[in-house]
Amino acid sequence: RRNFTIAIDGPAASGKSSTARAVAQELGFGYIDSGSIYRCATLLALRQNITEISKHTDDLVAMILKSTVEIKVQPSNSLNAMPSLGRLAVPEVQVLLDGEDVSGEIRKPEVNRMVAKVASESSVREAVLGIQRSMAARAKTRSSQNQSANNEGMPEGVVMDGRDIGTTIFPNAELKIYLDASAMARAIRRWDEMNNQLKDTKQQQKQQKQQQQSASDAQKAGSTTEAPTYPSVEEIARELEARDYADINREHSPLRIASDAVVIDNTNLTFEQQVYTITDLARERM
Ligand code: C5P
Repeated sequence: RRNFTIAIDGPAASGKSSTARAVAQELGFGYIDSGSIYRCATLLALRQNITEISKHTDDLVAMILKSTVEIKVQPSNSLNAMPSLGRLAVPEVQVLLDGEDVSGEIRKPEVNRMVAKVASESSVREAVLGIQRSMAARAKTRSSQNQSANNEGMPEGVVMDGRDIGTTIFPNAELKIYLDASAMARAIRRWDEMNNQLKDTKQQQKQQKQQQQSASDAQKAGSTTEAPTYPSVEEIARELEARDYADINREHSPLRIASDAVVIDNTNLTFEQQVYTITDLARERM
C-alpha cells in the first residue's frame, strides 16, 4: 500500500498537537506526538534527580532505551470540551511510560522548564529518533487496519508533530506543515487550556469534598487538598519564549522551517480552517 506522512512542526503552543490529532482523525491516520517522548525522557531524568543533564547523558540515554513509551489515541466521536476547537472532534491522547499513565505529569512546569535542555543533547535525540521511526511504522500499519469505509483507497499514513519532523525525522514526508502563531496568541491559548484544566480539577475536588463530607469526621480532617495555581499569561509567554529560544538555537536539529514546508500562521484562523487547509493539501497530494 501507498504511504503518506504528514510532518507538522512549529514553536511551542502553536496548536500542533490538537491540529495534528484532528487531521489524523479526519484522514484515518495514526498520530504521534514526538514532544511527549522528550517529555518522558525528561520525567525519567527528574525521577532520578538528574538535573545537570550534560553530565549524565549516558545514564539518561540508557534509561530511555530501556523504557517503553506508548502513545494511545482514543478516537473521539463527541464534540470537544474546548469551544475554541469548534465542531471537530479531537481525539484524546494517553501517554504511557513503562505502562504508567504519565499524560498529566509530563505537562507539569518542572518538565516544561527542563525538556528543551534534555532535547538539546544529540545522543538523546538519536535515541528518540529510533523510537519515533518505529512508532511511525507501527502507527501506519494500524491506520490501514482502522480506516473506515469512507477512507477506502486512502494510503496508510501517520501525522507526527514536533520541531524537527520535516527537517530531520522524515525529510521525505509527503506533506510538511510549519504551524505558527503570534507569541501573544500562543500564550493566551496555553493559559486558556490551563484554566480549563484548573476548572476541571476544582470541579473534581468539590465533588470529592461533598462525598467526604457525607462520610465520617475523621475522613473530613484529612481531606484538604490544595487547589493548584497556574501562572499568568505573561509568565507563560516568558516560558514559551525561553523554550523556543532554546529549540531554535540548539546545535542539533534546531527548529527550522523546512524549505518545502507550507507555512500556516493560525493567529487569525479558526481551528476548523487550519485543519481543513491541511487535510485539503494532503488529499491533493495523495
Ligand atoms: O511539543 P512539545 O511542546 O510537547 O515539546 C516539548 C519539547 O520537546 C520542545 O520544546 C523541544 O525542546 C522538544 N522537542 C524536540 N523535537 C521534537 C519535539 C519536541 O526537540 N520533534
